[in-house]
Amino acid sequence: MNTDIDAQLFAAAERVRRNAHAPYSHFPVGAAILADDGAIYAGCNVENAAYPQGNCAEASAIAMMIGAGARRIVRIYITGNGTEPVTPCGGCRQRIREFADAATPVICHGVDGEPLVTTLGALLPHSFGPEHLGAAK
Ligand code: THU
Repeated sequence: MNTDIDAQLFAAAERVRRNAHAPYSHFPVGAAILADDGAIYAGCNVENAAYPQGNCAEASAIAMMIGAGARRIVRIYITGNGTEPVTPCGGCRQRIREFADAATPVICHGVDGEPLVTTLGALLPHSFGPEHLGAAK
């Protein structure tokens, strides 16, 4: 585990998590990305009264990264309440996949427990991605 950058990512994810809009699940989530430009991009979940219209924290963080002009996820940190590591949902694994490699570290943290340090490839094996469409990364 890369302690210094993970401390920064954890702090960024926790900071943005405080602003989550989660009145339905009461489960605020924060995500922070270290991107290929060296910057950190963070996002929180944004729920909606029409439930399926809500966004996950990872989607918000990716939107911040893309809007800023960065293109690759070097490392991503996710945090939420409880002791269980907050792992990305299936849809977010695919969202991360678009901008990351199989070896990209994914750190999942329930703030009252120990982080799970895993990789995108472990979370989403045999995944479908841009190269299947002949698209350059
Ligand atoms: N959620 C995230 O934002 N990211 C995850 O990795 C897991 C789930 C959100 C979606 C919803 O707003 C709330 O957590 C409960 O599912």
